[in-house]
Amino acid sequence: MMQTVYQKCIDPKCGLEYPVSDPRIECDRGHLLDVKYKTHPSPALKEVFYKRRNHANNIFNESGVWRFRELLNFCQIDTEDTDACSRFLVSMDGAEGRLSKPYHMSKVADFVGLEHENFWLQPEGYNPSGSFKDNGMSTAVTHAKLVNIKKIICASTGNTSASAAMYAANENIECDVYIPAGEVAPGKLSQAFQFGAQVIEIKGNFDDALSTSLEKANEIGGYTVNSVNPFRIEGQKTIIFRALERLDWNPPDWIVYPGGALGNTSSCGKSLMELYEWGWIKKIPRIAVVNSEGANTLHTLYNGKFQETKLRWNKGNPDTEIIKKFYLYMDENGIRPKTKATAIQIAKPANILKGLRALEFTNGVVTQVSDQEMMDGMALVGLNGFDCEMASGAVPAGVKKLRDEGIIKKDDTVIGILTGRQKDSSIPVDYHKNPNNKFANPPRT
Ligand code: F0G
Repeated sequence: MMQTVYQKCIDPKCGLEYPVSDPRIECDRGHLLDVKYKTHPSPALKEVFYKRRNHANNIFNESGVWRFRELLNFCQIDTEDTDACSRFLVSMDGAEGRLSKPYHMSKVADFVGLEHENFWLQPEGYNPSGSFKDNGMSTAVTHAKLVNIKKIICASTGNTSASAAMYAANENIECDVYIPAGEVAPGKLSQAFQFGAQVIEIKGNFDDALSTSLEKANEIGGYTVNSVNPFRIEGQKTIIFRALERLDWNPPDWIVYPGGALGNTSSCGKSLMELYEWGWIKKIPRIAVVNSEGANTLHTLYNGKFQETKLRWNKGNPDTEIIKKFYLYMDENGIRPKTKATAIQIAKPANILKGLRALEFTNGVVTQVSDQEMMDGMALVGLNGFDCEMASGAVPAGVKKLRDEGIIKKDDTVIGILTGRQKDSSIPVDYHKNPNNKFANPPRT
């Protein structure tokens, strides 16, 4: 195997490198890693990717992840050879990413104040396990198999565990999921059980579950599939590839995500950095991250709301002390993340540094919205005939806020990512039963 792919520490002052075959998730000095490619894929592949949509029963062309395999070719396979593909690549029979692409949603566009033709939302909830996680889980589990792992491990607010359990079941490997007890939507928890994972309930929140699961992975030699795993990030780049393909690779002005552990923000940034470096795109869209008001660490630090310091990547010299100080401040004052959108109930985003790098590269912004605003956003997406969960409702809510503030301009083009489908049916039912809610349609008797 020619060594054109490797792993590299994201800290430019450190820069330690490791082979792809190394299952570690951080460098020896404790920094996150990137998957790096020495070759520059040719933009002529745009045509190949488009043609693969007519997949002729090749599941690796049907898959919205593996259709773009040359841009995440860490297995270094002969990409036109389907037998070689099936020896390496993990897929739910081509289902991951297959149904996800940007759609116009006129009612949401009217609500946020954008032209219908300039606004798209991309539902990632139509993935086989019901969230964007399948994009990155197919690649993480591909790597796990490449390095002969028998057990995968994750912490989760619900969607990661559903996706990990699904792929583990299909690949016949073991899966342990660490979840914050009582804080996971019932539909997500039921998936973990249904797919045969070992559920481990942790007293505490997601951040506690993640630190426990990372310790356990070290102890028992399990393979972590949370978004701190650089191979997860590779698969999640395809969310952006599908969005850009729909726009003939002419980037929009904005790409908008809800912010939790910031894996999405990181993967969006990495995909744009690579496409720009490889000459596939000339314009760099701005990323907007939308935090919940009840779990708003990135918003607080990025916008200088803690000790008046605006936290930035700063060309690879971020002020990591301010992050530590803020985490200590939260711990000492008993400040816990609290939002009804449990998917993003996270106070210590594990990918914060990669997220900052993405925000710096794209001149990004960070905002926050309330639970009520997220529910309204979720309900309005539903009125366009699309399903999404409350955390995804942060996207329309955040776009509206940024439009109202004049940060997103009237004629800007915007793609928002709807990260997951509804897995807690009580949320829309309760929303619509309450006539005080903006978009409620209460039942008649
Ligand atoms: N939206 C949904 C539906 C999610 O499930 C998550 C994260 C996010 C947004 C935040 O994405 O972490 O990339 O910033 N869910 C994780 C989980 C934490 O365990 O399922 P992020």
